Amino acid sequence: MSITVRAPAKINLLLGVGPVREDGYHPLDTVYQAISLYDDVTVSTSATWSVSVEPIGEVDCSGVPLDDTNIAVRAGQLLTAHHGITRFASIGISKGIPVAGGMAGGSADAAATLVALDRLWDLQTSDDDLLAIAAELGSDVPFALLGGTAHGTGRGELVEPVADDGTWWWVVVPHPQGMSTPEVYRAFDALGGGGTSTAGVRDALASADLDGLAAAIHNDLQAAALELRADLRGTEADLRGAGVLATLLSGSGPTFLGLVADQDDAHHLREALIDAGHPGVVVATGPVAGTHLVNYV
Ligand code: C5P
Repeated sequence: MSITVRAPAKINLLLGVGPVREDGYHPLDTVYQAISLYDDVTVSTSATWSVSVEPIGEVDCSGVPLDDTNIAVRAGQLLTAHHGITRFASIGISKGIPVAGGMAGGSADAAATLVALDRLWDLQTSDDDLLAIAAELGSDVPFALLGGTAHGTGRGELVEPVADDGTWWWVVVPHPQGMSTPEVYRAFDALGGGGTSTAGVRDALASADLDGLAAAIHNDLQAAALELRADLRGTEADLRGAGVLATLLSGSGPTFLGLVADQDDAHHLREALIDAGHPGVVVATGPVAGTHLVNYV
């Protein structure tokens, strides 16, 4: 028997970052949105843990670990430990979310693995327990379970759905060379600043106000990421040149996002950006559903 579960990428429409805590994490005030790039995770019972990965489209999977350090395997191990059982699974990941791109692809794999194994083995883990295990795996994993649009606090692991009356369109510009999240946070510490509020973004979402959203989206990590990787300034300039309404670094980068008015604009601007030398550009919409079952055979 095998089960396939789908989990979405996330972007942070507003990523407000406070001063580093004693535990090394940063307090966040963020608005997450799940967008229509997905990883599919297929699990089946096996004699040992194993993980394999295949790309969907242009995604470069070479940076994905294929041993027990893969976050999907760690998700399986935490789930079995939680239930006090000894079981193993083979985990196959079809990857549509850019790797090390600031879109929480690893977190999506962890969330999908939790849901898939819970179903495969009929563990009936409560939602609260799943969210707690997810938080242990990483700050973005609870949101990957939830999906939609949500306010994130704590270190990002505390998530509450927020009103979002829009259907938003994004052009997504991945970058072949990923970035390290801890490194970007260290550069943020050195620069100082941050603490941007999510209030403006939440107001714009609740009233489906496109101009309001374009004016309010912001990422407190963006200056730090651009300092580490000056080449990203060119990506941002190309997005502006193509005519997007607003630009935004996704999470800790390096993926850059452009907000556009509708699906037609998204496809036109995608072509313009491909012509400008960004072959991996994709179109995505949000919000979309969180982690969910897609196949059971
Ligand atoms: O929680 P997660 O494992 O995704 O975090 C990866 C790293 O990102 C952390 O070890 C930390 O360096 C940094 N981080 C942070 N503050 C957060 C989330 C992540 O400093 N709120």
